[in-house]
Amino acid sequence: MYTISLTPDMQASALVLGCMRLTRLSGSQLDLHLKTALELGINFFDHADIYGGNGACERHFGEWLRANPSLRPQLLIQSKCGIVQNEARQNVAFDFSYAHILKSVENSLQNLGIEQLDVLLLHRPDALFEPEEVSAAFDELYASGKVRAFGVSNMHSAQIELLQKATSHKLIANQLQFGPAHTGMINHAVRMNTNLLFSEDRDSATLDYCRLHSMTIQAWSPFQYGVIEGTYIDNPDFPELNTALEEVGRKYGITKNGAVAAWIARHPAKMQMIAGTMNTQRLCEIAAGMDIPLSREDWYRIYTSEGRNLP
Ligand SMILES: NC(=O)c1ccc[n+]([C@@H]2O[C@H](COP(=O)([O-])OP(=O)(O)OC[C@H]3O[C@@H](n4cnc5c(N)ncnc54)[C@H](OP(=O)(O)O)[C@@H]3O)[C@@H](O)[C@H]2O)c1
Repeated sequence: MYTISLTPDMQASALVLGCMRLTRLSGSQLDLHLKTALELGINFFDHADIYGGNGACERHFGEWLRANPSLRPQLLIQSKCGIVQNEARQNVAFDFSYAHILKSVENSLQNLGIEQLDVLLLHRPDALFEPEEVSAAFDELYASGKVRAFGVSNMHSAQIELLQKATSHKLIANQLQFGPAHTGMINHAVRMNTNLLFSEDRDSATLDYCRLHSMTIQAWSPFQYGVIEGTYIDNPDFPELNTALEEVGRKYGITKNGAVAAWIARHPAKMQMIAGTMNTQRLCEIAAGMDIPLSREDWYRIYTSEGRNLP
């Protein structure tokens, strides 16, 4: 599987295991899943302080890591902070304050049982954020060795500019929703200067911004439609997309899951793809697609399904 230089000394797998659903697995199932991931070449694991509710997914991963301490040097561990949830796990505020960022990282390190996060992302833009305050938090976390590198999630280009102007730490990644059923970042690009369906830019050209500024896009929920409403794979509401994935996949000897991976990997932005499956067989199928070079025609065949006809 191809890798991506997130920083000069951080070589990350293009396929990332998303850890949001980790508590679904028992200890032994998690052991098999994570060791299979490593065998497949996945060395990058995406967490957030809120996953599973109040750090539960981080703690589950941390228990596995405590049982397998020799594996830590092989792993790159990323977590996210900035969302505040109530006891019912509803988002009640976004918080990029100095105190919240530091406290969240402290909790994540404790949950995971590690000394240092390889990457910290700010999870969702806080409308009240003060760039200088975030910068001070980054300085403190870097100086104390608690975080190696920093990035953002769900931020558009001007928000990134605002933060980057205030901090000397290069923002290395932007985690954004992207997949064959969530194509907003490319829809407007191919319909530029038209008033056609799908021509509106909801993302402030953030895909191009990230490419221009060498920020790695991490595609979240690539198998979901809507805001994590379910998968489109084998879903009768997405007949054309399923046919396209099936036919393109068959041509290259991969499954529909593999075809999704190949479709994301084919984009020249060289994104990381964050798969959240807790099904080990499915993870193998996804990994099998990562190095398959789809032709332009096959890539557009998948893209244009479900009514996204080209102008
Ligand atoms: N930055 C953000 O705001 C943000 C938001 C959401 C998620 N994320 C990150 O992105 C990661 C991935 O998110 P996700 O879990 O929603 O991603 P996903 O990989 O798109 O979806 C995984 C879910 O879809 C199911 N699924 C996938 N393929 C399937 C298939 N072929 N047939 C049936 N079910 C299938 C999986 O079930 P099985 O487990 O049974 O395979 C699992 O429940 C998360 O773990 C998290 O790290 C970030």
